[in-house]
Amino acid sequence: MTNSRERFLKACRSEPVDRPPVWLMRQAGRYLPEYQSIRAKHSLLEMFTTTELIVEASLQPWHRFGMDAVIVFSDILIPSRAMGMSLDYVEGKGPQFSDPICFPDQIQKLKSFDPLVACPFLYNGLQQLRSKLGKTTALIGFCGTPWTTAHYMLEKEIAIWKKEQPKKLAQLLSLLTENLISYLLAQVESGVDVVQLFDSWGGLLSPAEYEQWSGQYVAAIVQALQAKKIPVILFVKESAALLQPMLQTGADVLSVGSATDMNSVSGAVQGNLDSEILLHASVEEVQQKTKEMLYSMRGRSGYIANLGHGVLPKTPVENVEAFVESVLHE
Ligand code: CP3
Repeated sequence: MTNSRERFLKACRSEPVDRPPVWLMRQAGRYLPEYQSIRAKHSLLEMFTTTELIVEASLQPWHRFGMDAVIVFSDILIPSRAMGMSLDYVEGKGPQFSDPICFPDQIQKLKSFDPLVACPFLYNGLQQLRSKLGKTTALIGFCGTPWTTAHYMLEKEIAIWKKEQPKKLAQLLSLLTENLISYLLAQVESGVDVVQLFDSWGGLLSPAEYEQWSGQYVAAIVQALQAKKIPVILFVKESAALLQPMLQTGADVLSVGSATDMNSVSGAVQGNLDSEILLHASVEEVQQKTKEMLYSMRGRSGYIANLGHGVLPKTPVENVEAFVESVLHE
């Protein structure tokens, strides 16, 4: 019998499996009552920077649903904080920096960081997760891509920087790449089996621009991980036009949004049930739509069942359960 971890790693390498492995982006989060109850006692930043809370939040969905993989509970902006920016989460508004980068000179003030010194909570959390999961469940590490991380550091003015300060922006992206590589390699040392790169804002780029502004940096990260035999999943939500440049990064698996036809992806693919279906449909409809998705991917090795984007906060728990169960009993 194959275990979840083997199944997950085989799918990443496009090797045949008994059934597709399954997990969900944002599987830890607000739709879970047990998450709400720890969240009521702690700020989001506290949750992301406290080992015990990281471990607990990461395991909650796995305890309930038994998916094949656990993703560590963290955020793509933790590395920006480690580079010296002051990060906070504003209720209803998402992440904010009190000192966003508004002028090119501010890039000079960002510092390279030693991951183990700057983020001990993350690496301690990963080590505990690894020992709790044993070797039979996959553990996923992650970070944002340099482009998507910079998008937040520049207060969403990245398109203006691209036009007016291309050299400075390239400098920032290189600095991020260097730091994210050591951040991820330390995750590997702490026990992760697979890494997902979130290029959530990659869709701001045209296919012709993607390589220059995101793809080349992603490719450098991919190479560093593949040198350690760690497969890389590259996620872009608005992926339909970007499949070619995404493939060129060398990523092992492309995680695509729900508007992308998964059969148009050559190589391993992850996705892509619409998160809105999970939010609004009945349990029976979720089962039906999940089966249709699995059917359309039948016989194809190199497939990981997931959503096209993260679980939305008001999603009924029964629908997440119906999704996971439909894949487990495929
Ligand atoms: O997937 C998981 O379960 C692991 C945890 C995880 C979080 N963020 C926890 C989180 C992961 C993988 C992320 C990645 C992340 N963070 C991305 C890329 C994925 C995507 O959604 O496109 C981005 C863009 C961020 C930045 C971020 N963090 C935003 C924009 C927000 C606010 C939006 C929102 O959903 O409220 C966050 C906050 C955040 N990160 C929450 C969680 C569970 C909300 C939690 C809460 O308010 O209690």
